[in-house]
Amino acid sequence: MSKIKKIAVLTSGGDAPGMNAAVRAVVRAAIFHNLEVVGIEHGFEGMIKGELFRLESKDMRNIIHRGGTILRSARSLEFKTKKGRANAFNNLKKQNIDAVIVIGGDGTFRGAGVFSQEYDIPFIGIPGTIDNDMPGTDFTIGFDTALNTVVETIDKIKDTASSHDRTFFIEVMGRDAGFIALQAGIATGAEAILIPEVEGQAENLREFLLKAKKLKKMSNIILVAEGNKLGGAQQVADQVKDEFKDFGIRVNVLGHMQRGGSPTAFDRFLASRLGVAAVDALIDNQRSVMVGYKNHEVVHVPFNKTIKGLRNINDELLKVADILMI
Ligand code: F6P
Repeated sequence: MSKIKKIAVLTSGGDAPGMNAAVRAVVRAAIFHNLEVVGIEHGFEGMIKGELFRLESKDMRNIIHRGGTILRSARSLEFKTKKGRANAFNNLKKQNIDAVIVIGGDGTFRGAGVFSQEYDIPFIGIPGTIDNDMPGTDFTIGFDTALNTVVETIDKIKDTASSHDRTFFIEVMGRDAGFIALQAGIATGAEAILIPEVEGQAENLREFLLKAKKLKKMSNIILVAEGNKLGGAQQVADQVKDEFKDFGIRVNVLGHMQRGGSPTAFDRFLASRLGVAAVDALIDNQRSVMVGYKNHEVVHVPFNKTIKGLRNINDELLKVADILMI
């Protein structure tokens, strides 16, 4: 029998479309199991400051399709300190919180793992980040929406690129991972994709531009992951613009628009399944695990196996991209 009676839910780190759908699923699943639910605003920062408030099923109406997070989010430096975590614990105790569900990326789970060891409070994580850079899950909530936003934007840029015979360097998010760039590159038929996981990009890029020049193919899309080793899109463009003047080089940095917008059906579905699974995991007395999604099934992965450096880019996708470029 589970001793859990009252739980809290928060969103932390960069917001991601579908986080609201996940909050909704957690709240409604908890109420279904006769648990009380409290929302914490601004992630761990709000836990430290005591921004806790009761959530009811009706508060979850009309949010499944909304981007951002109604709980708001933050990246808390104070939670990394013992004093910050002690204040957070006091606030949880004051409200008789027995367990917490956190929705965020690996930094969020790391913080939750440390806290849970210091104070005896179980945490369950739901992966929510547009970067899709977490091991243990095929998808993080928000990635599919961000990918579709990027693809839609690049399609528009391609129209003008081909009308003017221009080459665009387009920078996409992903922090130090190339998942968004690689998959958006394949989906838009980009001519080159620069991601941090692949070596020898300077040579590859020059080789590509020489080949394009020979073929008189002046309209090109070169996707640059923000974390790639040659620098951002502007820096990469600067490195080649003198040698390839006739390419009409232009740079677009897509930025935070990639994090906004209504979640896709896939992200809503994923968030709903993982939200329900997270509450089930707590009731089953699990702790310090992420509920993830592997081969279309919900899985449980210990926090220490969700550190992002452990996730590799799929070689088969790299091969597909290579074969289909030019
Ligand atoms: O982790 C999500 C993300 O959007 C990354 O892709 C990006 O590097 C980072 O967050 C940007 O963070 P901020 O919104 O704090 O500038």
